[in-house]
Order: sequence, then structure tokens, then C-alpha cells
Amino acid sequence: MIRLASPDIQKDDIKRCVEVLQSGNLVQGTQVKRFEDSLTDFSNDIGGFCAVSSGTAALHLALKALGISKGDRVLVPDFTFPATANVVENLDAEVQFCDVDPSTYCLTPELVENALASYNGQIKALIVVHEFGFPAPIQSICDIARKKNIYVIEDAACALGTVADGHHVGYYSDCACFSFHPRKAITTGEGGAVLSKNISFIEKIRQFRNHGIQIIDNRIDFFEAGLNYRMTDFQAALALGQLKRYPAEIEKRKQLADRYLSLLDDETGLELPILKEGHSLQSFMIKLNSHIHRQKTIDALAARGVQANLGAQALHRLRYYHTRYKRTDADYPISSQLYDCGLVLPLYGKLEEKDIKTVSKELKKIINND
Ligand SMILES: Cc1ncc(COP(=O)(O)O)c(C=O)c1O
Repeated sequence: MIRLASPDIQKDDIKRCVEVLQSGNLVQGTQVKRFEDSLTDFSNDIGGFCAVSSGTAALHLALKALGISKGDRVLVPDFTFPATANVVENLDAEVQFCDVDPSTYCLTPELVENALASYNGQIKALIVVHEFGFPAPIQSICDIARKKNIYVIEDAACALGTVADGHHVGYYSDCACFSFHPRKAITTGEGGAVLSKNISFIEKIRQFRNHGIQIIDNRIDFFEAGLNYRMTDFQAALALGQLKRYPAEIEKRKQLADRYLSLLDDETGLELPILKEGHSLQSFMIKLNSHIHRQKTIDALAARGVQANLGAQALHRLRYYHTRYKRTDADYPISSQLYDCGLVLPLYGKLEEKDIKTVSKELKKIINND
């Protein structure tokens, strides 16, 4: 079976974890600090990182630390993983959806401008998702938001290593949130992080991550109603080696994605993604023409030894959001189409060119009823 994703965990990574387990220090400690420092180096010293227990925890803390609360409205792309919006709902704020671009699957400055105009000054924050690692046009979106005093949070769950408008993600916005779930390019099992240029903001996130604790004059006090969103040391140890190898992993993904593009280019039943400079290629999603049955294609690929899956969700269609906001496909036609027709193909550094050839060949055969 050619799997959809497979983390790059090597013997040395496991050895590091075992050493931590043997040390007896299982909670957050020196390895988490090392991981945060390594992430800071990796992002070219944009600011500070705070490692947390998941990408969802990172988004939750970011919004909480920005003061998003009951009744606030947050603009969210309709095409994403539900966590992007769920965190807004969990702060008793309201989600306002925005459609996405058909070829990048991300927000554009025009879409944001139009959405802000239609919500008439009521938006307090907006979340930009770098979908599948694609570098969304963050600089122009931040320019628009800044003029209107709107916070910008980057959902960079899939975008560690993505360079957007000349900088690693997290440079232009208030903060960027990452996930280290095993479907992402670097994994800690569950895990995540917040990055911000603003170090006092990161300090606030650190406090919220750890029950609101601060130690002053050797005395512990609780300054906020915080949470426990800490990462454990053995999780951080798992990621240190992966992070060192990550630039090579991104390069390999680019080569393989280019190979998909050339092998699938002549297939009229498909629309292929754009590979913009700076894309970190967490996933490779193509669009099937609407006459092709996606689930049957996924099943047929599985029967031929290839794992594939749908991309992200159109949030307005999900039971919770449909019941709460009652939006229709006509409000978000592109997101609806991507939800119906998106197909993610295997892409990760351990794959070989021959695997990409196999996936492409089997997909073409299925589409052409061979
Ligand atoms: C765009 C996006 N945001 C947020 C998340 C949540 O990350 P986690 O699973 O680490 O909580 C994911 C995870 O798949 C994601 O794809």
C-alpha cells in the first residue's frame, strides 16, 4: 500500500525519546525549550515560539490571548479543517465564513475586502489558513486588516516551512499557529506551537499554557484562569531530528509534486494545483471533474494499493455549522466545489519517483475506466 502520509521518524529520534523517558522527566522541560529554540532558528528568528499540546490548542490560546470573547466576530475561510472555526465557537465568539480562491484554496485580499465590507465593521479578527502549506498572500491581507484594526492569526497548521511574501509564515501577522499531528510534515504525535514577533504576547501564551502560573520572588501565583496545554519533553525530543532534516524533506516533496504535475498534466478529468514558490507541500490536492465520483475513485485507488482522501471540509456544510448559521452552497460556491471534488494524493519524502508514477498511472486508469 502506498500510504497517504508517513512521518519521517528515524532510529535516532526514537533514541532521543527513550533517553527522555529514562531520565524520568516526562512533562514539559529542557527538550521543549530546545524544540522552541530550534523552531525559532528554523523560522529565521522572526520572534518567539511557544510549544503546546496540539494545533487546536495553539489556535485556542492565540485567540484567547488576543482577547477574543463572547459576541466577537471572527472571519474564517469556509474551506479548512473544522478546528480553525471550532476554537472561535469555544470562546463564545461567532464565525463569519469567507469563500476561497479556486486555484490556491486560500483567502485572497479581494475576498477578504469584500467579506469585511459585507460584515460592515463587525469583524474583530481574521484567520488566514495556508491550506496544505500554500503561501497565502499574507502581506496584503495584513495591510487590509491593519487599516481596520483587525487582528490576523495565521492558521499555519500545515505550513511550517512555508515562505509567504518573502518571509517564513508568522512574520506579517499577530501570530501563526502550527500543528505537529502525524499528518503534518513534522510530528510530535499530538502537538502544536504559536509563533509571534511580539515576545510579550508569547509570554502571555506561555502563561495561559501553564494554568496561568507565574513565579514571582520564588513564589508561585496564578495570574490567569489558564489551561494545561503543555507539550511533554519526550514529544519535543521526537521532533528535534525531524526539524533538522525538514529542509531536505520539503525539497524532496517539491520534486515529487513536480513529477505529479508532469505525469497528470495531460489528464482532462483533473485540475492540478499551483506550486507557488515558498509552498511547503504538506499535502498535494487535485480536483476531480464533477462527473467523476470521488468516493468510488478513493475506493478504486485503495483496491489498487494507493491511499487517497478528500482534502479539507466546507465548514458551512458540517452539521454543527449548518444548524447554527444556516448558510448554503450558493454563499460559498468554491469551497463547496473543493469539498466535493478535492482528492489528496500521497506525498512525503520517503516516497520514490516510481511511487508517484504508480499513483498517477492507477488514477488515470480509474478515471478512464480501464
Ligand atoms: C488547517 C488546520 N487547522 C488546525 C488543525 C488542528 O491541528 P491539531 O490536529 O494539531 O489540533 C488542523 C489539523 O489537521 C488543520 O489542518
